[in-house]
Amino acid sequence: MGIIFNEKTGEFHLYNRRISYIMKILRNGQMGQLYFGRRIHQKEQYDYLLENRYRPTTAYVYEGEYSFSLEHIKQEYPAYGTTDFRMPALEILQENGSRITEFTYVSHKIRRGKPKLCGLPATYTQQEDEADTLEILLKDQLLGAELILRYTIFRDYDAIARSASFQNAGEQTFWLTRAMSLSLDLPDDEYQWMQFSGAWGRERYIKERWLQPGIQAVNSTRGASGHAHNPFVVLRRLHTDEFQGEAIGFSLIYSGNFLAQAEVDNFGVTRLMMGINPFQFAWCLKPGEEFTTPEAVMVYSHEGLNGMSQTFHRLYGKRLVRGEWRDKERPILINNWEATYFDFNEEKLVEIARAAKEDGVELFVLDDGWFGGRCQESSGLGDWWPNLDRLPGGIKGLAQRIEKLGMKFGLWVELEMVNKDSQLYRNHPDWIIHTPGRCVSHGRKQYVLDFSRKEVVDYIGGMIEKLLSDAPVSYIKWDMNRSITQCFSAEFPPERQGEIFHRYILGVYQLYERLTARFPHILFESCASGGGRFDPGMLYYAPQAWTSDDTDGIERLKIQYGTSFVYPLSSMGAHVSAVPNHQLYRNTPMDTRGNVAYFGAFGYELDLGRLTLEEHQIVRRQIAFVKQYRGLIQTGVFYRLKSPFEGNMTAWMVVSDDKTRAIVAYYKVLNEVNGPFRRLFLHGLDPERCYLLEWEGEEREEKPAFYGSELMNAGLVISDASSGEASPGNHCTDFWSRVAVLTAIQDQEKGIEI
Ligand code: DGJ
Repeated sequence: MGIIFNEKTGEFHLYNRRISYIMKILRNGQMGQLYFGRRIHQKEQYDYLLENRYRPTTAYVYEGEYSFSLEHIKQEYPAYGTTDFRMPALEILQENGSRITEFTYVSHKIRRGKPKLCGLPATYTQQEDEADTLEILLKDQLLGAELILRYTIFRDYDAIARSASFQNAGEQTFWLTRAMSLSLDLPDDEYQWMQFSGAWGRERYIKERWLQPGIQAVNSTRGASGHAHNPFVVLRRLHTDEFQGEAIGFSLIYSGNFLAQAEVDNFGVTRLMMGINPFQFAWCLKPGEEFTTPEAVMVYSHEGLNGMSQTFHRLYGKRLVRGEWRDKERPILINNWEATYFDFNEEKLVEIARAAKEDGVELFVLDDGWFGGRCQESSGLGDWWPNLDRLPGGIKGLAQRIEKLGMKFGLWVELEMVNKDSQLYRNHPDWIIHTPGRCVSHGRKQYVLDFSRKEVVDYIGGMIEKLLSDAPVSYIKWDMNRSITQCFSAEFPPERQGEIFHRYILGVYQLYERLTARFPHILFESCASGGGRFDPGMLYYAPQAWTSDDTDGIERLKIQYGTSFVYPLSSMGAHVSAVPNHQLYRNTPMDTRGNVAYFGAFGYELDLGRLTLEEHQIVRRQIAFVKQYRGLIQTGVFYRLKSPFEGNMTAWMVVSDDKTRAIVAYYKVLNEVNGPFRRLFLHGLDPERCYLLEWEGEEREEKPAFYGSELMNAGLVISDASSGEASPGNHCTDFWSRVAVLTAIQDQEKGIEI
């Protein structure tokens, strides 16, 4: 890994063993993009890759010359209006009304490791030799504005992290109205664009289309990354599939309004950009002030989509998630939300916890309804003290009772919100986000606290800190259940109102930072009406996120499959809930509900005390399974094998780093009569090793053994037709699934040497 700068040619080459990123200082001082992809040789010059030819109707930079037009030159951080007519990476509104800028190279620094991004979540290094960082300083001489383009190349991950900082080193105030985190010009448009979109209850479904001339984009305007789209897109080549071919993933480490877009110009050049959504954004920079964009990460894979996802999983799992919980196995939890909703008292909660403990659950989580006057949606948010009518012993008393049972205790909060029926609102009605003189809209009968204001964040922080220091709380579920409307802050002057959406999310990050620093033992799980803020920004503070409010096992196949394109399994809260399912009334078998939830941070979302004896046995088996294999599942190498978006069958597997163990799961949505004699082709195993195969929950004396080469090439036979026997006494039905554990053996009789 390294960063080479060639003084003579002005070219930079960032590389590790597998990827190269090459750019150069252009004739006019701007930064040009030459190459991003699989590792290529270091050469003095790659500038033959720049386009310098004459074309009719083009505007050229130098008088009398027809060879240098930014319309045709691939760039690093383009501006509009100086011969380039595509969407720019930056735009600055100046005092004279102009938006024209010219940032040119001044100097650069190459340093070991990776500097912190102040106040923003970002990937990090633990040792200096894990990454190198390049910072290129550019300046707009007329405006006195400075721009730093930052690039980090990692040694062990095929990823480049990018961000940009602006400094007003001049004398006039200006407004940043567009400041992308990354912009990348790619030489052609022969890519499929993949986005991860949906709505509440069906988050992160895969949507794909060929790039077309013009702009294709996903974004958020809600104040959170949102249910509708994720700040993540992929470009993949025609023949790229899960296992082979080129794919580039672009992920923004940000939880607020974002934009991810690809613009294909009339010469087939693709410009990919990603950053804070410029819509409704204007950041005022007075002389001496600075602004830094969130970080964006680009991952390159020539080993298909699985290869790309595996890089994201490792990078985000190890160098974005922080703290004590990063490398720990996640506790099996029970959450009372779907068991009780708002209808509970202390005794009922303890009863639920006791039943869960008997089955082996490790953490009891008390969801919404425990605080202030919160007995229904319309009251209590903002009053973060226990409701003593419901919990006579307070949170401390309840937590102690739960700990006495031998479980840890966790709590739900929604710190960014307030109900009008609350003491907080009565004392500080002006603390909600609202536009003076306009109607204030509610969402779920609640209002958004103005987290762009320090005093508001400090006050809420103080309240929750007191609670957490008084009681043994081991886990927090941090929810956020509505979008921001009438965005305006009473704290800021008119020229700063375009900053509020971003300042709000900075306030959320500040509070997360304060609480995670003060209570490092607490495991945080983020949530926003299910998966409405499942993004890398949140992962920096909360190692888990509630993947979706849709808890049905079959629905979760698509949700978890889509989510796995960028987020590691350890980050996906996945619970077994009751039947009929509360979101869509389906009766998915207990086994299948568990078999899906295994592939995440596992838990239950029902009253285990109400189960039949037979169901209890399944629960106990599931818990024993998770305890034995969660280390492997949560940190192993994950392969998607069959997509729920493409047919009736879904399959995936996880392999340990040393390839000695693996877990394979397949799921069939609807049963079929007299179906094909199917095989599943496994991946990631050691071809030379022999593996014993054991179907989870099925007693067999003789465990069959297979070579890795056999399972990957001849396939695992999954004879699941309803007319035949799936396994003794276990006939295939609708919503059916099976999980197998593979363990490498050192068995001479089987004829192998390890
Ligand atoms: C929305 C969350 O997604 C649910 O899991 C639950 O915590 C409710 N909020 C509580 O209000």
